[in-house]
Amino acid sequence: MCGIVGYAGHRPAIPVVVEELHRLEYRGYDSAGVACVQQGAFRVVRAQGKLSALEQLLSEQAPSTATTGMGHTRWATHGAPAVRNAHPHLSNDASLALVHNGIIENYLEIKKDLAARGYVFHSETDTEVLVNLIQECHRTEPDLRKAFARALSMAHGAYAVCLMSKDEPDAFYAARMSAPLILGVGTGENFVASDIPAFLPYTRKVVFLEDGEMVRVTSSSFAISRVQDLSPVDYRVETIEWDVQAAQKGGYRHFMLKEIFEQPKVLSDGMAGRLLEDAKGVRLPELDGLPVPSRLSIVACGTSAHAGMWGRHIIEALAEIPIQVEIASEYRYKEKLLFQPDEMVLVISQSGETADTLAALRRAKECGAKVLGLCNVVGSSIAREADCVLYTQAGPEISVASTKAMCSQMLVLTLMALYWGERKQIVSEATRAACIETLLSLPQILEKELPSMHAQAKVLARKYAQARNFFYLGRGHCYALALEGALKLKELSYIHAEGYAAGEMKHGPIALIDSAFPTFAICLADELLPKVKSNMVEVQARQGKVIAVTTPGVDLPADDLWIVPDVPSFMSGFIVLPVLQLFSYEMADYLGKDVDQPRNLAKSVTVE
Ligand code: F6R
Repeated sequence: MCGIVGYAGHRPAIPVVVEELHRLEYRGYDSAGVACVQQGAFRVVRAQGKLSALEQLLSEQAPSTATTGMGHTRWATHGAPAVRNAHPHLSNDASLALVHNGIIENYLEIKKDLAARGYVFHSETDTEVLVNLIQECHRTEPDLRKAFARALSMAHGAYAVCLMSKDEPDAFYAARMSAPLILGVGTGENFVASDIPAFLPYTRKVVFLEDGEMVRVTSSSFAISRVQDLSPVDYRVETIEWDVQAAQKGGYRHFMLKEIFEQPKVLSDGMAGRLLEDAKGVRLPELDGLPVPSRLSIVACGTSAHAGMWGRHIIEALAEIPIQVEIASEYRYKEKLLFQPDEMVLVISQSGETADTLAALRRAKECGAKVLGLCNVVGSSIAREADCVLYTQAGPEISVASTKAMCSQMLVLTLMALYWGERKQIVSEATRAACIETLLSLPQILEKELPSMHAQAKVLARKYAQARNFFYLGRGHCYALALEGALKLKELSYIHAEGYAAGEMKHGPIALIDSAFPTFAICLADELLPKVKSNMVEVQARQGKVIAVTTPGVDLPADDLWIVPDVPSFMSGFIVLPVLQLFSYEMADYLGKDVDQPRNLAKSVTVE
């Protein structure tokens, strides 16, 4: 996820563009850049780090008088955060500049082809490949609009792009495919941006561009057409009523809610480029050069550790690799770290900066283990120090409580299980294809279900808001989800909650159950259902109330049934996760807690 903006108007463009980027900084903040055309040539300024670094550079230069420009704030997906990878990227002949949000899946093929034609590349980005592809198309097609459309139809993936040409200094082009892009219609000035807050102080009139559409924009005009055949598009100008702050949250009350609702996209983005064309296998080039681990220790903290616990089940089942999951703060101080040949360590961290996880990584490396990292933040310490890193591609997570990051971690762990299972020739092609088919169906299922899940969470939160304690029960992979449900409830609503493997209840915790101590049970239609069901009966026999998450047609003795769609085996985890997140979110919001910044917590725990 990155932020892009384009401006054509009557004001000096660069200050407007930078101001707009500030309101998109939540979309990415590892590097930023701007471009405009000045005296017939591109002026491109780029800086690594937060926008302030770019502003510092700009303040050291003579101000630009151009009234058309574009900018970018980056959240790296290809290539480390560095100036060479920052946008805008110029074409080889310096006639075109491009900013881009998204992933061009076939960029390596295109890059190879362009390199054979003599193009040179100065970055590791897919964006630089695309801008050179446009140059290549423009060589034989003098109409830039047509050349742009031709290049876009050759690029597969998800993108929102903004393009400028030195030959048309007062115009820019933009296009979208499965990534957000909105046109802002002003008076004597027009905008495009990845999100509405960027231009909201200037105009409330917007056109939501659709997938496969492109637009040419000047200060006084815009023309929207279809990329496929350049036919004109009928559009509707809408008026936005939100203020800037509400708009940054996409109209959601909190970032946490927005991030929960982003999970369908997190799943599609996480799969982009990682599935074979026939959808029967997984591509994880990061792991190609390494042996399949003989054993794996998964090391992480908090929610990331719960993702690891969940992943353990799927990796053991599909790849038959023995796994142990360890809390980083314990692992780092173990008396001895003992490794067998080809045993590896996988550290999981959204931020890539968690002190205990980083220390565990260093200790494991010192003891001779190969360490794999699973991170969201590109170029973070863990990403840099791991022997090999896989990125979750979930985009920045603003809310302190981790939600979409866990979903993205679970996804990559599933892909790793399929990948290693295939390399060990354990998973049949049919099983792989069935898993991938389910994975591919998840974004759509979640998209459809999230609103009704949210409504159900509201109802149950009001009903159970008096509780001071909660148990969360699950078995198998749902035990990890029970732990996560309990963590979310306590960190957000400050209600004491414990997650237990359902079978452990009668070994002590059941003594706590009474009519004021409810239980949240995860009871899916799998082979463990009868067991969880009898644990629920035991709770109810002690007057404990039970909320049960289950699938249609399951007969359960619960006080409240929360029915979710039936998704095969482990993949049901992706459906249960937002149920738990939404319940905690609604509890906290109903009780008036600070949802996005719970007390005593920090987003990145960089101290021990
Ligand atoms: C809980 C939460 C924390 C983090 C933990 C690890 O909602 O956010 O438990 O999961 O601090 O953080 P990362 O994944 O950044 O290492």
